[in-house]
Amino acid sequence: MRLRNIPGAEDMLRQFPTYVNNPAQYKGTWSDCFGNSNPIHVEIGSGKGRFINTLASRFPSTNFIAIELKAEVLYRTAQRTEQKDIPNLKLIQFDAFKITELFAPGELDRIYLNFSDPWPKKRHSKRRLTHFSFLRQYRAVLKQDGEIHLKTDNQNLFEFSLNQFANELFQLRHVSLDLHSSEQAATNVMTEYEERFSNRGQRIFRTEALCKPIAPTDKPAKDN
Ligand SMILES: C[S@@+](CC[C@H](N)C(=O)[O-])C[C@H]1O[C@@H](n2cnc3c(N)ncnc32)[C@H](O)[C@@H]1O
Repeated sequence: MRLRNIPGAEDMLRQFPTYVNNPAQYKGTWSDCFGNSNPIHVEIGSGKGRFINTLASRFPSTNFIAIELKAEVLYRTAQRTEQKDIPNLKLIQFDAFKITELFAPGELDRIYLNFSDPWPKKRHSKRRLTHFSFLRQYRAVLKQDGEIHLKTDNQNLFEFSLNQFANELFQLRHVSLDLHSSEQAATNVMTEYEERFSNRGQRIFRTEALCKPIAPTDKPAKDN
């Protein structure tokens, strides 16, 4: 996501009670940070933050964490909170590739990947947030039966992701080739990108990938 550079965005983020400075200090103790042991759901690449802010107000008994690479983009998510201390929402500026520095094994219940950058060139495939190298990091921090929920407008990224999930022995469910015409549409929370693509008449692809234990005889594909 390209946004106008906001000078001093990192400093301005510190003024928001939902922003977490030095988040790695909470690895293994996020329940203490939230003050309860409710499930923890993370959105990676939260963009302008409509999705995570909506979920946080709709589901007060779930803890939500937005992880966004760029400070100026996370600042937009923070602005949506209107400087309020939302007890079940935390905002983190971080590279998801290092997610194991933030969370202990089994600390997360769910990860959302919404309209992640497709990186269409093959030589950039390692940057896709569903590349197997990312999926292995996610598995390391998800609970057994933890979930990854993916939405995208990009058919190539969707097919790539389904293959990566399957190769990494995630169990797929609710695979939809047209989310907005499916029965899941009723509970769907739109993101900014989703609204934009949908208004152009583009279909939205969605799936859920479950983190099942890997039996010793079931090895992930070595060369994805
Ligand atoms: C195309 S935007 C989608 C934003 C939002 N999810 C939506 O649907 O409107 C993708 C976002 O992912 C962020 N991102 C990309 N790679 C990331 C990474 N490794 N860690 C965290 N965020 C990342 C980008 O900065 C960008 O804001």
